Amino acid sequence: MPKLSLSTLLTSLFYLLPLYLFVIAPLLRQLFPVTTNIFDPDADPPDAETDITLDPEILSLPDGIIPTCPEDTYRVHLLSKDPLIIYIEDFLSAEEADHLVKISEPNYTPSIIYNGQTTQIDPTTRLSDRALLPRDNTVRCLEARASSFQGWKPHLYIERMWAQRYNISGHYKHHFDWAGSVARGGDRLSTFMVYLSDDCHGGGTNFPRLKMPRGDQWCRFLDCELAKNENENVTGITFKPVKGNAIFWENLRADGTGYPETWHAAFPVTRGLKVGLNIWSWYQPPRRR
Ligand SMILES: *[C@@H]1O[C@H](CO)[C@@H](O)[C@H](O)[C@H]1NC(C)=O
Ligand SMILES: *[C@@H]1O[C@H](CO)[C@@H](O)[C@H](O)[C@H]1NC(C)=O
Repeated sequence: MPKLSLSTLLTSLFYLLPLYLFVIAPLLRQLFPVTTNIFDPDADPPDAETDITLDPEILSLPDGIIPTCPEDTYRVHLLSKDPLIIYIEDFLSAEEADHLVKISEPNYTPSIIYNGQTTQIDPTTRLSDRALLPRDNTVRCLEARASSFQGWKPHLYIERMWAQRYNISGHYKHHFDWAGSVARGGDRLSTFMVYLSDDCHGGGTNFPRLKMPRGDQWCRFLDCELAKNENENVTGITFKPVKGNAIFWENLRADGTGYPETWHAAFPVTRGLKVGLNIWSWYQPPRRR
């Protein structure tokens, strides 16, 4: 029987080490590239000539006011891990949803779309009215809930919240919530699409690039009839508006690029009225001067 001596062991290591360094390790790097995670709080901040100040007209910045909030009682259902998509039942109570509809009422103006740098009203792309919500106790509790849901991620700011009201034929064509601009200063890392009022027909939220999950249980939240109807050319999955419930999804990958799977639309309301609420989380790391 060959005896394993210390010298044979050292000799094998002597040959194996270069093999690892020059063959195996480069191969591993090729096969499993290390992508930088821009959301790592210890990552180097992006270079910039000027410091962008966080805008309180756009973001719900901390201002020392601590809201008094009820315990969280929502239930979650994981729809997809990559991109991360979570369905949230009872994210808002019926009372909270009614309250938000009520405080939105005096503030509606036609919704706009962003076209690169400029904003415009284009009813063929987007037909709805929107209202900025004042940061009262309920809105602040919702900001805190959205932040806690995401693990109080550093450099993440909840945008000022806007209610969206869709009358008959109100809709929003397929679009992304992200702009691919995280390297230029910030982008929308995530979206909560919350339904505040569901007294309508139509008005589903469609994701054409997502696959129908298995299990009839999902038909409580997804429009399974619409998916099966061959006369309607609906691809992907469509969420039914359900008051108080929310869809949460992440828009950006770890390297800051946007997920193409998050392409989505608000289908036209065919009867009644739908009120929705977007809670967008803006990621903006501090900049190096
Ligand atoms: C929706 O209906 C309200 C109330 O009738 C009206 O003031 C508003 O202009 C309508 N919005 C759109 C986009 O049709
Ligand atoms: C569905 O798509 C087919 C093929 O593109 C088209 O001929 C048909 O008119 C569409 N049906 C509806 C209801 O849009």
